[in-house]
Amino acid sequence: MLSLLPQPRSVIIDSGAPFALRNPVRIEVAATDSAYREVAEFLAEVLRARTGFTVQVAPSVPASARAPRAPRATGVAPARRATRAPRAASIIVIGGGLPADASLGADERYTLAADVSGIRIRAVSPRGALWGVQTLRQLLPIEFDALNGAPRATWSIAAVRIDDTPRFVWRGTMLDVSRHFLPLAAVKRHLDLMSRYKLNVLHWHLTDDQGWRIEIAKYPELTRVGAWRTETDGRRTGGFYTQPEIREVVEYARRRGIMVIPEIEMPGHEMAALAAYPELGCTGEQFTVPTTWGVFADVLCPGKSFTFTFVQDVLDEVIPLFPAPFVHIGGDEVPKDRWRDCASCQAIIQREGLANEDELQRWFTDSIGRFLATRGRRLIGWNEIMHGGRLLPSTVVQSWEDSSWTRRGIEAGHEVIASPNEWTYLDASPRDRPLAKIYAFEPVPPGATPEQARRVLGGEVPLWSERITSPANLEFMAWPRALAFAEVMWSDAPRDLRRLTARLTNDHLLRLRGMGVAVGPADVELVRLGVAFDGVARVPRVQVTAGAPGIVLRMTADGSTPSAASPEVTSGTPLTGEGVRRLQAFYGEQTVREELRVELVRHLGVGAHVTATPPANPQYLSTGRDALADGLIGSIEHGDGMWQGWWGPDVRLELVLDSAVNAREISIRFMQKIGAWIALPGAVEFSWSTDGITWSPKSIRQHAVPVLQGGARIETFSVELPSPTAIRFVRISARSSGPLPASHPGAGRPSWLFADEVVIR
Ligand code: ACM
Ligand code: ZN
Repeated sequence: MLSLLPQPRSVIIDSGAPFALRNPVRIEVAATDSAYREVAEFLAEVLRARTGFTVQVAPSVPASARAPRAPRATGVAPARRATRAPRAASIIVIGGGLPADASLGADERYTLAADVSGIRIRAVSPRGALWGVQTLRQLLPIEFDALNGAPRATWSIAAVRIDDTPRFVWRGTMLDVSRHFLPLAAVKRHLDLMSRYKLNVLHWHLTDDQGWRIEIAKYPELTRVGAWRTETDGRRTGGFYTQPEIREVVEYARRRGIMVIPEIEMPGHEMAALAAYPELGCTGEQFTVPTTWGVFADVLCPGKSFTFTFVQDVLDEVIPLFPAPFVHIGGDEVPKDRWRDCASCQAIIQREGLANEDELQRWFTDSIGRFLATRGRRLIGWNEIMHGGRLLPSTVVQSWEDSSWTRRGIEAGHEVIASPNEWTYLDASPRDRPLAKIYAFEPVPPGATPEQARRVLGGEVPLWSERITSPANLEFMAWPRALAFAEVMWSDAPRDLRRLTARLTNDHLLRLRGMGVAVGPADVELVRLGVAFDGVARVPRVQVTAGAPGIVLRMTADGSTPSAASPEVTSGTPLTGEGVRRLQAFYGEQTVREELRVELVRHLGVGAHVTATPPANPQYLSTGRDALADGLIGSIEHGDGMWQGWWGPDVRLELVLDSAVNAREISIRFMQKIGAWIALPGAVEFSWSTDGITWSPKSIRQHAVPVLQGGARIETFSVELPSPTAIRFVRISARSSGPLPASHPGAGRPSWLFADEVVIR
């Protein structure tokens, strides 16, 4: 049974004897185009590396000339070599001349025929021949690819005839190297794996808020400043690729049939560049490279001529490094706040007769598009570039917000790369984007005319790296799900999940693991990390589950960054004492996902029973019902699992301690993060009781933080008790700050209340 992936268009299994690959091997090149010789050399390297055989690459020899020749008669003793009958070589012929049909991916077509006499790969283009070679690798047994596989004298390949063409020409993955930098070796390994599965576009997301990753000689601060950030624990992290390194990757990819598209984000996701050159922004404010994720209000100022000088200079250094005819300029998630308040931006809007700031972005995009055209390049942008009206027709749109943008793009006459978030984002947990969902992705919108359908070039699976913290982590998220995607992009056969799963289970998962690839889960979370309060033992306990073998959790208790040498903890490990505990999953030496920091506090109320009316939203239940008295303090990340949240209502809390304690102070913390619709309560009322019958008068606490105050903050509301008082019952009421105000994007909708922890001292 063959397990080829992606499934070729046509496979005929012959009944004849298999081909035996033995030492020596002769790869013949039946084409004058030297690029075919390069494909043959690629195969030769693969075969030599695994078999140790002598593999010779030579121009094709007519069959008649192949018979062993008798040694020439001479007067002297024949050379030792000539006295033995030369052993017949295993013959693999690689050649061109295959006719193309009219389909979109026709120049990537190849045929492969294997029988006892040899293997013949024919192709329309050298790239097609390379795909034939990659198919040949899959025809070899799984053990052929195993790092520690035993040597063999003969590798057998079933007699087979294959005729294969891809459905889409653009079969990509997107690598974000900004949020977490990826070493060169990891990028190359990713390319190796892509090429095996005939994925042919690497969309390299080289710049973003949290790091600028490509050396630009004219603007050295981009990498001196913009490539590095100071994490919250003081570590400097980052990195960048030099221009020679970029060339090395592009060449490595080219040899593997992969086109590399650089993405240089503009005008948003620009904090790293603004940290390096503040004059690029509307306000000129000096920033540092951020350590948090999200969308930042400060972006490039299209009102300044320096912005255009800068962008064009940067592109003029980028373009010669990337022969591909496309440059991606991002264009997603561009807040318009600064442009609204910027005299230079408003002057452009006036001068160009633009209706608003969305049209200003369209004007900016088209200006760059025209510039790129003078350099022989076409502009690609994320779908927001369509928000401001009609773009240059040559613009390529990449849909991501949802599938409707694929449809809107092709209806507007653009070529489109489909990567709707709901179907293709591989940075999302496999639980939310299971392999089955990726496999069900259909890039062409229903109802598209044939002409519109042809404008869907293909698709990409993005791998955003906020939570992809290491090369192994990248592999866990990419594989096996990208295999399902590779099949969607290549094959036009009806999809059959059962058969795909069989090919994965019987072959590709084993093959990848044999190669040392960190194969992730298909449909469960890679790592689930949390802390649960054990109400019986009155202690928080670690909870961890891993979706792949080899993942271990490690912890530090002294505030230091967890390392592969830190002590291992497992589910159920109690968290005792006070202070910060840092928990990080590892795979060998490498981190997996981000760390979880928990802060432990000991106080008189730990373990109290808490009744919330109404109960917290199920999304934000934290460690459970008694989370507000679990001895765990929420961090500034509202989603850290420590906070309880309510959407809309006023909240009443009632705490009951096992027995009365002598208390001097009661406090509770609330969060404000208005970008996430979280607002501080309007007022907080406290009262307490020893017996649950007689209650203290209410103490009311308020605050002076404006509801629209940006950023994230935690406010503690507290009451001092008149003197140490025996209390067993506490009531706290928090009044919601009400609907979001008019200037908020969620105006009129309810705000969230976020609370943690009630501390009694
Ligand atoms: C995107 O995910 N912001 C393109
Ligand atoms: Zn401006």
